[in-house]
Amino acid sequence: MQTRLWYIKHANIFSWLAEEEQQDLAQRSEMISCRRNSKLFFAEEVSDDIYLIKEGRVKLIRASETGRQMILDILGPGEIFGELSLIGEENRSHSAEAMDDAIVCIITRSDFEGLLQRHPEMALKVIKLIGLRRRELEMRIEELLFQPLGNRMALAVLWQSQRCGISEADGSIRIPLSQKDLAHLIGSSREAVAEQLSEWKKLGLVTTAYRSIKVIDPQGLEFFFNKNSLVN
Ligand code: CMP
Repeated sequence: MQTRLWYIKHANIFSWLAEEEQQDLAQRSEMISCRRNSKLFFAEEVSDDIYLIKEGRVKLIRASETGRQMILDILGPGEIFGELSLIGEENRSHSAEAMDDAIVCIITRSDFEGLLQRHPEMALKVIKLIGLRRRELEMRIEELLFQPLGNRMALAVLWQSQRCGISEADGSIRIPLSQKDLAHLIGSSREAVAEQLSEWKKLGLVTTAYRSIKVIDPQGLEFFFNKNSLVN
């Protein structure tokens, strides 16, 4: 409960709530631990709860009819998901899967709605979040349509290095992301991702290790992106 309250205090969307409201929410919410690769919910399931990530990362995924997977987004500590039920979506738009061993708080929709009724400013924050995610999605569609694979990959690697990169002693940034997940994030295949990574390795931009990519030269990756954008 203590940890749950800490988390609710530090999660962006809840941080400005009064102390008693945070206490109340912490008491009402359920905190669960889940193993890497376990599903929190499946696409199309009925939506009832809103999730808040305390530790670890969660990927939002959807599979095509032919079984190809697409990662919509990767969320980390402090972020919420499953909020679309608040604007009338009755079924989950995507599946949610833990990428690491994770801890999440689960808040029922009715508790969350109660909060929104008591605090209309919070409703505004949720609307802004949904709008922001929509805008990000539009940008991803634009990238898919207008950017070559290498550029989509450079953008995804730079974005993930900012969101979940771990600074190493040698000045590099390690991203805990498998080549398969990177491929699913940019709508490509693992083989194509591996080919691009080996080109970048030769240029001294990145190195790879088991389930991770190390960015050695972020400016070099930006330069790679700009150079290829000018061509297109
Ligand atoms: P819900 O539909 O309940 O379950 C899947 C969740 O994925 C959804 O709520 C949102 O929390 C999340 N989601 C949907 N679209 C986006 C997006 N464009 N960016 C990030 N997360 C999203």
